[in-house]
Amino acid sequence: MVQSFRPVPERPESGLVPVASNIWTIEAKESLCFRPPAQPRYPYTHRAVVIRLDDGSLFVISPIQLNLDLRADIDRLGTVKYLVSPNNLHHLHLGDWSQVYPDAKLYASPRLAPKRKDLTFYTTLSTDKPEPEWDGQIDQCIFGSGNGWFDEIVFFHRESRTIVFTDLIMDFDPSTFSSISRVTTRWNQMYQHTPRGVQLVHMFDRISLHDSLKIIRAWEPDRAIVAHSPWLCVEGKERVGDFFNKAFDWLTPKPAIIETVMGIGRLSTLLFLILPIHAFIVLTADILYPKLRKPSQGQ
Ligand SMILES: [Fe+2]
Repeated sequence: MVQSFRPVPERPESGLVPVASNIWTIEAKESLCFRPPAQPRYPYTHRAVVIRLDDGSLFVISPIQLNLDLRADIDRLGTVKYLVSPNNLHHLHLGDWSQVYPDAKLYASPRLAPKRKDLTFYTTLSTDKPEPEWDGQIDQCIFGSGNGWFDEIVFFHRESRTIVFTDLIMDFDPSTFSSISRVTTRWNQMYQHTPRGVQLVHMFDRISLHDSLKIIRAWEPDRAIVAHSPWLCVEGKERVGDFFNKAFDWLTPKPAIIETVMGIGRLSTLLFLILPIHAFIVLTADILYPKLRKPSQGQ
């Protein structure tokens, strides 16, 4: 299997990195630290995606930190009209962007609106039917059946034939991790794969995911972008297909008896391994350790 990953330019000419016709990424300057269930905190490199529609308006997926230089680059490109959170984790900078671009409409992923009551969303994207504002230019597919834990909207820019994932597929550079994090990220399948945590929250709605996978395969993308990766995009229809095969091998249909046994195994793993370890790490690393450190820092 050959895969082709286009590197991120070392010295981009602007804050917007061109991917193809009318689609760019914004590469975050700093990593975000986040703790997935039952694991240490990892530094997450991340990126936003900007698509320019036919009327010159800009559609921004997962807006990241905005600064004056970036704003100038964006304003040269077009008018920011649509700010989209593709899942209930990538919403941190929606408010900042909304203040800078007060005329832009905010679109929530399923279940985000109750979490971000401080924001005024134009609507929640809850179906595979694109909104009239981008219908015919950007397709969308909800990955998940509204289980309340994690659903993600996958987008496909028709003109450039580019598919955009956020947390459904991740890839990291292991050299940026400690040795223990390299072990845990491998166990959590965070290299060119759907992370194990995302797989586990979808243990009961696999049929809906099989349908979603069929939809995004039928788009036949020429390139794929993911939010967390050391590279910019995967290029080439066959190579993107190979990338899907590897990333989504956990969704390969299996006989019912095997699915049942594996489902019981996944549920047991979640209840008796992941959740207790996560609770222990949160208790020790996030609650007890900071309290113990405070007095010594003051000395
Ligand atoms: Fe993410």
